[in-house]
Amino acid sequence: MTDAKRRAGEQAMQYVEDGMVVGVGTGSTVAYFIQALARRRDRIAGAVSSSESSSTLLRAAGIEVLDLNAHGPLPLYVDGADECDPSRCLIKGGGAALTREKIIAEASTCFVCVIDAAKRVEVLGRFALPIEVIPMARSLVARAVLDGTGGQPVWRQGTTTDNGNWILDVHGLSIIDPVALERELNQIPGVVSVGLFARRPADVVIVG
Ligand code: 5RP
Repeated sequence: MTDAKRRAGEQAMQYVEDGMVVGVGTGSTVAYFIQALARRRDRIAGAVSSSESSSTLLRAAGIEVLDLNAHGPLPLYVDGADECDPSRCLIKGGGAALTREKIIAEASTCFVCVIDAAKRVEVLGRFALPIEVIPMARSLVARAVLDGTGGQPVWRQGTTTDNGNWILDVHGLSIIDPVALERELNQIPGVVSVGLFARRPADVVIVG
């Protein structure tokens, strides 16, 4: 698996062009991309990062971390995923970075998703769907998710996101219409973002 992740991360380098500001996701696959990016650091303008953990890796690699407000929209975003269906719709957020990941994906012209083969599924939902919630709305959102979808929300206790929020992981879903479910869950007050990347799926998927 580690080799597959490394290959996927390294293959994403073919999309990096000189002078680019590169959007950088979060996770172990992306960590390999950051290692490869470091070897070309003098030829890129910098990176916009989706998490504090990736920012730490980028700075340690000598890559400047830039502000999306000053440098967006971006030509390229490279990120991993927890599941990927044949339409390139994704479940993300296993690393709790879904909200910033979704912002950068939206702000990018080309979203390259880097995964190993185990992440490919026909129907999304085997991996529990992460939802970032405002802490005071945790129970409200959990009840609405249970009533509306039949999925079983479980509070990821001990995890606070980079934005100061909490995560619910929704188990037992079989996501036939990812765009509709993403839209429905986004309507619940207290939901910050949903780890379904369906309205804005990946453009390219690299399977290591
Ligand atoms: C973080 C994510 C990651 O991209 C996802 O969890 C995949 O991680 P890894 O590459 O370590 O398997 O969405 O929020």
